[in-house]
Amino acid sequence: MAFQTAVQMFSYLPSVRVLLAFFLTVLIIKWTLEWLCGPANLPPGPWGLPLLGANFRLGSNPGQSLFEMSKRYGKIFSLRIGPRLTVVITDPELVREAHCKKAEATSARDPSTLDWLDVSGSIISCSGSDVKPLRRFILRALRDFGLGKKSSERLIMEEAQHLCRALERTGKGTFFDPRNQIQMAVANIICTLCFGRRFDYASSELMQLVLSLQAVSHISGLSITREIPLLFLAPRFKVFREGGLTYRKIITDIVAQHKATFDPDHHRDVTDKLIQETSNEDSLFSFGDDRIYRTLIDMFGAGADTTSSVLQFALWHMALKPNVQKKVRSEILTAVGTERAPDLSDRPRLPYTQATVNEVLRLTHPVPLNLLHRTTASIELAGYDIPEGTELMTPIACMNMDPGTWKEPEEFDPERFLSKDGKSMVLPPGFLPFGTGSRMCLGKTLARSELFLFFATMMQRFTFDLPPKAPGSHSGYFGFFLWFPDHFKISATPNF
Ligand code: HEM
Repeated sequence: MAFQTAVQMFSYLPSVRVLLAFFLTVLIIKWTLEWLCGPANLPPGPWGLPLLGANFRLGSNPGQSLFEMSKRYGKIFSLRIGPRLTVVITDPELVREAHCKKAEATSARDPSTLDWLDVSGSIISCSGSDVKPLRRFILRALRDFGLGKKSSERLIMEEAQHLCRALERTGKGTFFDPRNQIQMAVANIICTLCFGRRFDYASSELMQLVLSLQAVSHISGLSITREIPLLFLAPRFKVFREGGLTYRKIITDIVAQHKATFDPDHHRDVTDKLIQETSNEDSLFSFGDDRIYRTLIDMFGAGADTTSSVLQFALWHMALKPNVQKKVRSEILTAVGTERAPDLSDRPRLPYTQATVNEVLRLTHPVPLNLLHRTTASIELAGYDIPEGTELMTPIACMNMDPGTWKEPEEFDPERFLSKDGKSMVLPPGFLPFGTGSRMCLGKTLARSELFLFFATMMQRFTFDLPPKAPGSHSGYFGFFLWFPDHFKISATPNF
């Protein structure tokens, strides 16, 4: 019987072939038309390849590539990243309109961005009704442990002293890469808030945490595995896979220790708050052990790498611009002296120091593309129709280099953040280093305090110099979403 059917099929084969060819042709035409035209009334933009989209146009410095594209296509343009339609917005006012006024429809994350990394449901990747309660919960937990209060200020000031001692230990006139010391200092702030303790810089646990964090977030080219998941197994990503496992183990062990000694009447840190929430039946959002782990991973990923990248770049900029460095130091020594360390109440007296931190953030922003948002309904923006399910990219690097907002944007010039009389620091409305709207950086207050206190304390205590034949400009690389400084060396000479 089967044989007979096969013979019959064979005799009809030419017509089956024609039919197949017909369907295939129709499909290809439909797909090509969709690909070329996309939905009607989209912003203009460059063409892309099937499956890979315009990924190949982004190169190793996507912030710069998008900046070049915006010169050609304008402040709102579209392209495909992989198969996904992405609308890029580089005008701060349009970003505000999209992220604030139209927040209802633009506050989701694309699940496929992070699902394959097994971190879905974390603060960064959550969407929908989870966002508000999860953000509120984390903010409350952070405030309970000092965020925005004197205790977190004291915590950062004490850590800044540990950092200065570590810099002192490198020895006068020795050139060294400050990456690990700064990462350990910044990681210790998150460790104290989340785990209730800091680690000594010589501790293998802290070093392992810092190195596994580096392995995970410093890897470049990972986004291609969204399109071709099998590539995740490539040798290139071995460091990422192994770093991820170590990272997970360190945090899982700490959570296990917390559970073993958990006292519901006495919460020691954010981890205890998370553990308590898992047993709360009225919890507004579904919580589980995995969420504890993923939330803690986010705190390190978003909170440690960003701040430490900015502080490393700050030292590099200072060593490259001795005149700026001298001005910052003289302002600190005049307003604060040498008998005590700078604190947050010194901010109004240190406008140039604050302006310098902002100029570092502007020129070498750690999240150059910002995080992607996804539309959950179609929206109208600048006269264009953006369909539901579009990714919105609002690259901070492009806004920070816009000659319409900034005079000579390539120059390092803190004065642009000063009032006319030079007596106060001003933030132009086009400067959105922490994003805006309902997904704005959750750690903005903490980040601002850390950047100011760590930077001002290091500048008070040391003069930073480059080795004699060092390159005359800074450079960096794009890891997994974040911008990091290349390895560089400086010396730290104590001022007193
Ligand atoms: C210089 C330091 C920092 C910069 C420049 C920065 C910048 C940003 C940006 C641009 C976003 C994305 C906003 C958006 O999606 O529209 C973000 C999100 C986030 N940041 Fe920061 N950040 C910094 C430090 C921190 C710190 C210290 C913490 C932690 C305590 C933190 C926690 C977060 C979290 C949890 C999110 C995700 C919020 C959400 O998805 O709802 N960040 N940050």
